[in-house]
Amino acid sequence: MTERLTIRRPDDWHVHLRDGAMLHAVVPHTARQFARAIVMPNLAPPITRIADAEAYRARILAAVPEGMDFTPLMTCYLTDAADPQEIERGFAQGVWAACKLYPAHATTNSSHGVTDIRALRTVLETLQRIGMPLLIHGEVTDREIDIFDREAVFVERTLAPLVRDFPALKIVFEHITTAEAVDFVTASGPMVAATITPQHLHLNRNALFDGGLRPHAYCLPVVKRERHRLAVRAAAVSGSPAFFLGTDSAPHEIDRKEAACGCAGIFNAPYAIESYAAVFDEESALDKFAGFASEHGPRFYGLPLNTETVTLERAGQRVPDRIGEGALALVPFHGGETIGWRLVD
Ligand code: NCD
Ligand code: ZN
Repeated sequence: MTERLTIRRPDDWHVHLRDGAMLHAVVPHTARQFARAIVMPNLAPPITRIADAEAYRARILAAVPEGMDFTPLMTCYLTDAADPQEIERGFAQGVWAACKLYPAHATTNSSHGVTDIRALRTVLETLQRIGMPLLIHGEVTDREIDIFDREAVFVERTLAPLVRDFPALKIVFEHITTAEAVDFVTASGPMVAATITPQHLHLNRNALFDGGLRPHAYCLPVVKRERHRLAVRAAAVSGSPAFFLGTDSAPHEIDRKEAACGCAGIFNAPYAIESYAAVFDEESALDKFAGFASEHGPRFYGLPLNTETVTLERAGQRVPDRIGEGALALVPFHGGETIGWRLVD
């Protein structure tokens, strides 16, 4: 049995770092494990201008503890008023790594999101021409559609036509949760990839109602039936370069999670790499872990692979119920459980 696993240092291709005191509380967890992270722009107001992205990047770097090496990769939040020239300039200047598309009102801080993707034709043509990835929160927002079907319907209504019309556009289908998403990505060829979170590998929808309502298992896209979890797991451990690590760690204050209308988002940053390692171990696929965690992402983005390594060892560690103090206390994913792997510092 493998007892120690040394891999190229991983990257997180989807994370919410927030701002202000929360940013300072959560950045060390991500920076400790990951060399780089694609930072989501859904602040209030969202990051849409180059200058805002540069200022946010500086605030993130100021929150990285001494001695940790961490590079935030910034994203541009697309609105109906997105400016293709600003996007192209920011990409050329190395400020932006990608654009993020939230369908309007799909999730937290997405009220400025895009109401009609078709109306963004010039932006999409620009992204395709300059090779800038488009990261998509893939859910329809139609309230008539059952929430558990919103990703599959998005594939059919929006993503399939988009891929057909922009065949050279690099698209990352973010945090996929369904067999339909897996099948679509698998069938789409090298321009379409997907990120996968730890929670969608570990949880099915029973976790939301396990003995009572479980707000800390609630994120968007919501966790699905067991057959979907198994399909997403199979994709993650398949070795296919189309699937890579993106935690979607999304911290919210406890009283905003444990509320009559609780926020969506799971704070998985503190033990993210161990959480993924446990899945690959359970699937007898530790040989595929480095590809998923450290290689497929940079190759898709056209960025260099990290050269340093990290080591994980097989060792039970108990995840605390809470991390942090006072108003900044957060409930981590796996809180109160024991994970079978540990990142060796
Ligand atoms: C994210 C957040 O809180 O910013 N929440 C979530 O459940 N994933 C937004 C998002 O990525 O959908
Ligand atoms: Zn997210």
